[in-house]
Amino acid sequence: MSTTATLATLSDSDLAADPNWWRQAAVYQIYPRSFADSNGDGLGDIKGITAKVPYLKELGIDAVWLSPFYPSALADGGYDVDDYRNVDPKLGTLADFDEMAKALHSAGIKLIADIVPNHSSNRHEWFQEALASPRGSAARDRYIFRDGLGENGDLPPSDWDSVFGGPAWERITEPDGTPGQWYLHIFAKEQPDLNWANREIRDDFLKTLRFWSDRGVDGFRVDVAHALTKDLTEPLLSKLELTEANSGTDGFDDGSHPFWDRDEVHDIYVEWREVFNEYNPPRTAVAEAWVHATRRARYASPEGLGQAFNFDLLQADFDAEEFREIITRNLAEAKQTGASSTWVFSNHDVVRHATRYGLPKAAKGPADKKLAKGQDGKAWLLAGGPKDELDVELGERRARAATLLMLAVPGSAYLYQGEELGLQEVADIPDSERQDPAFFRNKGVEVGRDGCRVPLPWKVEGASFGFGDGGAHLPQPDWFSKYAVEAQDGTNNSTLELYRKALKLRRELQAEEELEWIETGNPEVLHFSRPGGWQSVTNFGDTAVDLPAGTVLLTSDPLEDGKLPANSTVWLR
Ligand code: NOJ
Repeated sequence: MSTTATLATLSDSDLAADPNWWRQAAVYQIYPRSFADSNGDGLGDIKGITAKVPYLKELGIDAVWLSPFYPSALADGGYDVDDYRNVDPKLGTLADFDEMAKALHSAGIKLIADIVPNHSSNRHEWFQEALASPRGSAARDRYIFRDGLGENGDLPPSDWDSVFGGPAWERITEPDGTPGQWYLHIFAKEQPDLNWANREIRDDFLKTLRFWSDRGVDGFRVDVAHALTKDLTEPLLSKLELTEANSGTDGFDDGSHPFWDRDEVHDIYVEWREVFNEYNPPRTAVAEAWVHATRRARYASPEGLGQAFNFDLLQADFDAEEFREIITRNLAEAKQTGASSTWVFSNHDVVRHATRYGLPKAAKGPADKKLAKGQDGKAWLLAGGPKDELDVELGERRARAATLLMLAVPGSAYLYQGEELGLQEVADIPDSERQDPAFFRNKGVEVGRDGCRVPLPWKVEGASFGFGDGGAHLPQPDWFSKYAVEAQDGTNNSTLELYRKALKLRRELQAEEELEWIETGNPEVLHFSRPGGWQSVTNFGDTAVDLPAGTVLLTSDPLEDGKLPANSTVWLR
C-alpha cells in the first residue's frame, strides 16, 4: 500500500493490514494506573481501559500506547519491571489484557506496549538470583556489578549520579553477610541496569517481543532506548571528565559517552527489527532516545526501530520562530531516514502543556539554552505552583492552539491522557502522597512527575470523579470537576470536542507527508499548507489577525469579528 493513501480512503481492514499505519497515526498514551479503575481499589486497571474503548473510538485516535502494565512494586511508576511477560495482578490478568487488545482492535485501534529494556526491577528473579550468587557468577553477569574503590571497596566504582539524583551505584550485602559489590542503576536503585553484552539478556528480550506480538501488540515504545550498551572499561571516567568531553549542551554527538547513545546500541535494534518483520504487518517501534539531534535519525532507521521521539516541541516555548525551526528541521531529518516525524507536547514525564504555556516565557538566553528554557514548569512546581504566576486560561488557549497546529503537521502525533480535557498539572500534592522517585531522590531540586499522573476525572461529581468507585491513588483537586469528560462531552467549544473534531478531520484531510510554509509577513503568525489544500494558521502574537482565503474548518477558539485571535489556530481549506 502506498504511503500516500489518505486515511480517509482506507477501510478498517485496509488499515489493520497497512504496514505504514504508524506514519501519521494519532497515538494516545494511557498511563494505566491513572486512566480508569474498574474495581474501586484506587488504581487504574486493564478492565478499566477496556470499558473506555468506546470513549477512545469516539475520540478518534489510531493507536493506544500503554505505559508499563507489568508486575511491579511501582518504585518508578511501573518502569521497574518484575516480569516482562505478565500483567501486574493489581491491574488484571493476561486474559484481561487479551480482552482489551481484542476490544481495541475491534474498534480499529492499534496497541503499542511500553518495553523497558535498560533495567529490570530489583525484584526481578534475575536480580534476586544475582544477589544470592557469588561475585563473578553468571547470575551477576546479567547486571553490571563492580567492586568498589578504596581499601575496603566501600567507595562507589565512580562518582556518577543517577538520573533521579543521588549516586548511580548501590552497594549490596553479599550472601555471607559481608558488605559487597556495587551495581549500576542509571535510574532508581530499584532499577538495576541490565548487561546487554550478555547474550542471554538479548535472547530473552527477543522472546518478550514475540510474546506480546503474538498477543496482538502492534508496536513498542522503547524506554531509554539510548542507554542499553555501555563501555565500562576501567578506569571509569569521572563526572568532571564526562562534562568536559561533552562539547555541546544537548548530549554527546559522537557516541563516546560510556552509557548514553553508543553506536553499538543499534546492533540490538537490528535484531529486534528482524523479529518485528516476522509479523504482518511488521510490528513497529518508537525509541525514547534523548540524544543529540544529529543522532536521533539512527534510532529511526528502517533497519532499526523505525521511529524515534522528537521532544523538540515539548521543550520549546510557545514561540512562532522556535516552532517553525523545529518543524522544518525535523521534517527534513525524517525524510533522510525514511521515517516519519513524531510530535509530542505532553507525556507522563513532563508538566502538562496547558500549564507550561500559562507560565511566563523565559527570557531568551543565548548562552545556555537549557538554563534559558522557561516553560518546562519545573521551577514553578518546586516553588509550590504559585497561582499568581500561572495564567490558566492563557495556558489552555495556547495548548489548544499548539495541539491543532501539531495535528496538521505530517508525522505521528502522540497525545497524553487528559490533554484532550485541557487538564492542568496538579501542583499541590502533599509530600506525604508523592510517589515519584525523582521527588525522593532529588529533594529540593525538583518535585517530580506526579502532578501529570493524577487519575483522570470522568464525572463532575462522585468518588474520584468517576475514575472508579473508590478513591484515587494520587489526590485529585476539586477543580478536576470542571475538566471532567462528563462536563465537556457534547459541550460546544470544549477542549474534548475540539480534539474529537480535529482528530476526525485529520483523518479525512491527511495526505502526503509534505508541508509548505506560506509567508505571512508577520513573525508571530505561522501558516502552512498540506497537499489537498489543508491549511493551518497559528497566531502566536497578542493581537487578532486577518484570515487567509479559504473555508474555515476548525478553530482552536472562536474567531473574533472574523479574525484569528491571539494564541489560536485555524484550519482552512
Ligand atoms: C523514561 C520513562 O518515560 C520514565 O517515566 C522512567 O522513569 C524512565 N524512563 C526510567 O525507566
